[in-house]
Amino acid sequence: NCSLNTTTNHLRHVESMAVLPSGAGKIPRLNAVILGEALASEEDDLVFPSDDFARQALLPSAQKYLEMYKRSVEDPAGFWSDIASQFLWKSKWGDTVCSENFDIRNGNVYVQWFKGGITNICYNCLDRNVDSGNGDKIAFHWEGNERGFHDSLTYTQLLSQVCQVANYLRDIGVKKGDAVVIYLPMLMELPIAMLACARIGAVHSVVFAGFSADSLAQRIMDCKPKVVLTCNAVKRGSKVIHLKDIVDAALSESAKNGISVDACLTYENRSAMMRETTKWQDGRDIWWQDVVPTYSTICEVEWVDAEDPLFLLYTSGSTGKPKGVLHTTGGYMVYTATTFKYAFDYKPSDIYWCTADCGWITGHSYVTYGPLLNGATVVIYEGAPNYPDPGRCWDIVDKFKVTIFYTAPTLVRSLMRDGDAYVTRYSRKSLRVLGSVGEPINPSAWRWFFNVVGDSRCPISDTWWQTETGGFMIAPLPGAWPQKPGSATFPFFGVQPVIVDEKGVEIEGECSGYLCVKSSWPGTFRTLYGDHERYETTYFKPFPGYYFSGDGCSRDKDGYYWLTGRVDDVINVSGHRIGTAEVESALVSHPQCAEAAVVGVEHEVKGQGIYAFVTLVDGIPYSEELRRNLITTVRNQIGPFAAPDRIHWAPGLPKTRSGKIMRRILRKIASRQLDELGDTSTLADPGVVDQLIALADC
Ligand code: PRX
Repeated sequence: NCSLNTTTNHLRHVESMAVLPSGAGKIPRLNAVILGEALASEEDDLVFPSDDFARQALLPSAQKYLEMYKRSVEDPAGFWSDIASQFLWKSKWGDTVCSENFDIRNGNVYVQWFKGGITNICYNCLDRNVDSGNGDKIAFHWEGNERGFHDSLTYTQLLSQVCQVANYLRDIGVKKGDAVVIYLPMLMELPIAMLACARIGAVHSVVFAGFSADSLAQRIMDCKPKVVLTCNAVKRGSKVIHLKDIVDAALSESAKNGISVDACLTYENRSAMMRETTKWQDGRDIWWQDVVPTYSTICEVEWVDAEDPLFLLYTSGSTGKPKGVLHTTGGYMVYTATTFKYAFDYKPSDIYWCTADCGWITGHSYVTYGPLLNGATVVIYEGAPNYPDPGRCWDIVDKFKVTIFYTAPTLVRSLMRDGDAYVTRYSRKSLRVLGSVGEPINPSAWRWFFNVVGDSRCPISDTWWQTETGGFMIAPLPGAWPQKPGSATFPFFGVQPVIVDEKGVEIEGECSGYLCVKSSWPGTFRTLYGDHERYETTYFKPFPGYYFSGDGCSRDKDGYYWLTGRVDDVINVSGHRIGTAEVESALVSHPQCAEAAVVGVEHEVKGQGIYAFVTLVDGIPYSEELRRNLITTVRNQIGPFAAPDRIHWAPGLPKTRSGKIMRRILRKIASRQLDELGDTSTLADPGVVDQLIALADC
């Protein structure tokens, strides 16, 4: 059971902060930040919420946070049950709100929240809001890639459309527990499809529509869906991407491997491509618009147990095979709703826009479930954020009067490079809270976001979390405490972060180390689909007694958490997780590539770029054409977002005598820190290093 130790470090720090009067020191500090003056150190750079903001905030003070946080860890069952009771449950959970074993030394790891409680997340997102009189409220504003294309759906309309898709799925035989693969761009049909699955208890597996046919096939073969939902094409910027062709290729690849899919429901996305020119397989392919509208707009809900699976979402790990992260229903519902509400200081009058795609966890938890559970109005944008020019985001903000804007540091950095004029020509007056996710936000990007985009009045919620965590773990609660640019600040309710050293020993106070979590929270993922052993090995064995996040982290003297990036073989490119092993295995699939080693390297816009060392088959000469072919191979096998930024020809790779590649050395060469190579004497062939350096600029 969740008996929790409350003497966490940060609590003591927040306790000491809690005596600060709200807004204390605001004026000199805030001015210093606005003027960009050099401050003593980043850690001392405090940005206080304005009095106006703090006055209206859901959590107006550190004291209030502290009070709630204390209860959340001292009495998690009571804390989360009170919140869960605000949702609709067909029948309540049993006496045990949470049961878990987070300590691998005590046997198999498992987590359960609200077991025995019967509910449905789609019902709680839609019917509950319609029934409470919000049926006419806009659920989604959709903005197309091209200016002038837009649409919207009220909660009532959304419910009807979800019911029609749900009825179609049921009619073709999709039942509770069956997997459904969704490969759609940011049309409203994407969250509609997700909600339709949830309504009938089917398990959705959304695959980001930037993944290649190979990646899609791999995911289809792993979860064996009855049906794939897609569209014929999408326009992103000025490019048309033929999604249906990618699905066709993936389906024939999986059929070759014995996994055939009965139906491919295809939305005709007329703004990108007409049906007449779409390739078609009779008997398998069905036009969405031909069948879905023929179904009833009423669909009985499949009531499910809180612990029944809601979705699978594949993410990269340190081996080549993607991991199917599995989330269940009840805990995820309660957690995404609560984190959304507090981290964005959500009020019913807000208009919320998250730029993430539903193909990633952010789009699951904070485009779809979290906001809709709160009855929010959500903006969805189909296109590229800098199309037709870098002012597009602020055009959309003004058009829909967006109040909460949530995005990734990569976009912030890229818009920052394009200059302030694209921002300042728009009003942006409606904005009141900003958010950041996916990678550490560097203090200069933070300040630009705060000062230029938010006119120095909108707090920034820098939310640290992961596909695995389901929802925010460490995040500022706007209004509750001062922020430090670049720090995700303090843990959310119920989350007990710990920093451990290499031996897994918890370190107190100001320190750096590996970020772990001490016990479960309702949004914890429950397993890796079909591979519980990998779940335990990856997350619970490295530091027994804890969940290991894979991230490095430091805590400053005030208890603020600073995420420092992945410490495993995962690269974070533009906020997207890519396993080095995945890129390596794509590279070596090229017949002329003998070996490859991939490392992350600092990138001005993307945070990290992909840097690949490639050894060619004997006798093959280096050439520009081959370099391009290798990059194309990765694009085709994983997706364009995983394309290496740099190919470095490598006559050999630095290996230990036992054959292990020393990536530490490769990282130094990639970042040209040649005087920091360290000891190379243990290499089987130290001469390799000089060869690599000589080829660095070829
Ligand atoms: O390294 C951390 C980074 O993104 C990883 C999780 O990636 P993914 O599962 O794809 O989910 C992304 C969206 C939640 C983490 O292990 N990360 C995420 N948010 C932050 C972050 N690093 C620093 N600061 C953040 N706010």
